[in-house]
Amino acid sequence: MKLWGGRFEKNTSQLVDAFQNSIRFDWRMYKQDIRGSVAHARMLGDKGIIPREDARLIIDGLLEILEDIESGKIEFKEEAEDIHMNIESLLIQKIGDAGKKLHTGRSRNDQVALDFRMYLKDEMDEIIHLIRKLCGLLLKKAEENLDIIIAGYTHMQKAQPITLGHHIMAYFHMFCRDMERFCDCYKRTDIMPLGSGALAGTTYDLDREMVARELNFESISENSMDAVSDRDFAIEFISCCSIIMMHLSRFCEELVLWNSHEFGYIEMDDSMATGSSIMPQKKNPDVAELIRGKTGRVYGDLMTILTILKALPMAYNKDMQEDKEAAFDAADTVKGCINVFIPMFDTIVYNKERIAEKLKEGFLNATDAADYLVGKGVAFRDAHEVVGNMVNYCIKNKKTLEDLSLKEFKTFNSSFEADVYQYIKMENCVIRRSTIGGPSPERVLEDIEKGKRYLGLL
Ligand code: ARG
Repeated sequence: MKLWGGRFEKNTSQLVDAFQNSIRFDWRMYKQDIRGSVAHARMLGDKGIIPREDARLIIDGLLEILEDIESGKIEFKEEAEDIHMNIESLLIQKIGDAGKKLHTGRSRNDQVALDFRMYLKDEMDEIIHLIRKLCGLLLKKAEENLDIIIAGYTHMQKAQPITLGHHIMAYFHMFCRDMERFCDCYKRTDIMPLGSGALAGTTYDLDREMVARELNFESISENSMDAVSDRDFAIEFISCCSIIMMHLSRFCEELVLWNSHEFGYIEMDDSMATGSSIMPQKKNPDVAELIRGKTGRVYGDLMTILTILKALPMAYNKDMQEDKEAAFDAADTVKGCINVFIPMFDTIVYNKERIAEKLKEGFLNATDAADYLVGKGVAFRDAHEVVGNMVNYCIKNKKTLEDLSLKEFKTFNSSFEADVYQYIKMENCVIRRSTIGGPSPERVLEDIEKGKRYLGLL
């Protein structure tokens, strides 16, 4: 029954089979496993390590098995442990003795490293594509909301006026870096380990370069022990997943706040929100909350894989079988979250009146009032003190800075003139913030144009 049964006198206990099998999750790598085996068999045939006719039979058999799996004809078996031995057993059943030659010069240790790398490369292609789509949407939304002035915060306290476009572009930059991180991780995953055997290479004259070419790998691994025991690429992959989840969770947290009655800046589309089973008035931002929550799950995946690998001696150890579920879960979660974030964000309606109304509170133009005095020759530190006193006065008298009469202004500093009202208007505060990277619509538009070029949209 077992492909490795020769040295055993007893069958494996069912308890052990149920415990140690990985087919219940690694079946997901069936495509990669078959592609890898096809390339290996072709190379064995070309090099004359096995007869060409056998290689042909193996390849045809594997391709039939692929079809059978995809049309739902195959039931994988726990007794066959994992995807690698399930497929090998199916092949032997299908084509007989020739199938027994497939595993020549190969171990499951280099085979699983190959499949896992191929699987994560495919996942990264998909994730990079999704992030691109998200970044494109952010550029569009930033442009649409280029000159909507909104309060910027530090310490969750109103700080200075910014633009909605500027705020959205902040996230654009985070997600671009996330995309680059996945591209970097891809490079280190794009290394072909087959030919490393169990740990010590093989005695056959394998053409590793040929296998790498057929499987679209950039290079081949250079140390057989490293190749079978390295899971850095998976750790790095889940780190990239964790970082993008962290960014998504920050964005979602802000959307939850903005959607609250207290802020009232945005309204989620009905199709993107949920209700309460008891409170009839509720419309909850569940999607954003759930993405925020799932971030914790991906961090858990990262801790899982780091802890599995910690202090593992060379080379392959069965512990490493536990690496896959963490990586699969992180990939599924990231893809799922970006996929639903896109329509959720796309359909948000901004409550422009409320956003404008809220600008009046919180002295967002206090820094500008101080800057005004600097323009009149007052040292910044003194100007800061003066405006601090004015703010204190306004709080006590329930006024905003622009509510003060010129006479009141002058009691704080004689340099104030009538032009101060124009100077501290929110629009002007934003327009003047035109340092490179600043929130002025003109600067943000430049950033958006650059972003479009970066994404190849221009
Ligand atoms: N299912 C195993 C894994 O996921 C495949 C490699 C098994 N190798 C071994 N020597 N038991 O890691």
